[in-house]
Amino acid sequence: MAKKNTSWGGRFKKHTAKKAQEFSSSIDIDNKLYKEDILGSIAYAEALQNAGVLNKSELSKIKSGLKQIKQKIESGKFNWQEALEDVHMNIESSLEKIIGAAAKKLHTGRSRNDQVVTDLKLYLLGKSKDIQICLTDLLEIIVLKAESEVETLMPGFTHMQIAQPITLGHHLMAWYEMLSRDLDRFKECESRLKISPLGSGALAGNKFKINRKKLAKSLGFTEVTNNSIDAVSDRDYVIEMMFNISLMGVHLSRIAEELIIWSSSQFDYVDLPEELCTGSSIMPQKKNPDMAELVRGGSSKTIGNLVSLLSLIKNQPLSYNRDNQEDKGPLFDSIDYALGSLDITAAMVAGAEFNRDSMLTDVYDGHICATDLAEYLVMKGIPFRDAHAISGKAVQLAESKDFLLSELSLKELKKLNALIEKDVFKHLDPLKSISSKSSIGGTAPSQVSKQIIQAKSKLKI
Ligand code: ARG
Repeated sequence: MAKKNTSWGGRFKKHTAKKAQEFSSSIDIDNKLYKEDILGSIAYAEALQNAGVLNKSELSKIKSGLKQIKQKIESGKFNWQEALEDVHMNIESSLEKIIGAAAKKLHTGRSRNDQVVTDLKLYLLGKSKDIQICLTDLLEIIVLKAESEVETLMPGFTHMQIAQPITLGHHLMAWYEMLSRDLDRFKECESRLKISPLGSGALAGNKFKINRKKLAKSLGFTEVTNNSIDAVSDRDYVIEMMFNISLMGVHLSRIAEELIIWSSSQFDYVDLPEELCTGSSIMPQKKNPDMAELVRGGSSKTIGNLVSLLSLIKNQPLSYNRDNQEDKGPLFDSIDYALGSLDITAAMVAGAEFNRDSMLTDVYDGHICATDLAEYLVMKGIPFRDAHAISGKAVQLAESKDFLLSELSLKELKKLNALIEKDVFKHLDPLKSISSKSSIGGTAPSQVSKQIIQAKSKLKI
């Protein structure tokens, strides 16, 4: 027979069935929130004392009891009980055992519904900071790598086909841009995390003259929620955080994908640090990019986690429903992915050795300056569409002879259009091509250097 739950036992004749307890307990997952739960309870006890619900001695007993519980948990001596459902009831019940009657007053006017939102928001504020620190580390590594590759020529791709010459520094700064938007999103999300629900009670509010604003401030929140019904039903902040993680995961996955492709022997653009690769149990020659593959693979679950949260909320009538307990597993899973993947990606990028020769070889492949030839003709007064067709013919001719565009003779080129002069060959040189792309954000080393200066000043490095 399962234990009778003392938090609501008064209304019940029967004990909760063992199978119901097992089915509904979340303690294995939400015990992660113990620190925030204790912080929230200490602050709430102070608010209760200010409101005259607790006297000074009761408050000090509650505080010292909660501190003891924290120590017990951190030294691994706390006995988490499935029968007590979740972190909130485990801590409250243990408090009663330690300090006696005063503990029974702590939940006055408070519900686990506003308590769990308080805990989660505080927890996410901390995790958001951790993610921002790791993300900033990765951004710094990318920018410093880009700085040493500002002049490194490589082919740029569209449709996975060689498109136009770019620099590796420019490409790495594209990674920077994606992830820097992620960093902004994590920062922006904080403003909504910093709104305290405490004092909303189960759903209708609190009648005990709790000073909600003071209470919020004491926990580091900047505002209080406007509507107690919304406050206990809202999980938007969880969804936002999970969206931010999943979009960052998509970015990390694209970066990982490039590292995987570039490290293949067909590309040979990068050598990944050996200590972050694995071998094969059968093929002795293999050096596999498993960490990058796990960053790519793991990002899928962050998308799944986000979708599961959206559908968890979608059909719930207001206000709180127990469904919400299901938010924590996917949330914690996404957070673990975020921190782990940022860390391993930073190590991969920091230790990546780029093979400039392989990239350069490919720059002289695929008629990479065909667009430059068309643009040369535009500068001679030919409309772009016609210029495009002439350049296309030049590619056809070069292909038929197995030549590079720049290996065609002036005579051959002139046959395609009489306006072509000797100066055309300058425009068929990839180095000249990159330095001509000097529009803001373009691949010219002068521009990429500006992008790097801006990034460094944003990162304060
Ligand atoms: N463990 C619950 C959760 O995560 C706490 C709130 C329970 N509230 C309730 N009315 N049963 O949502």
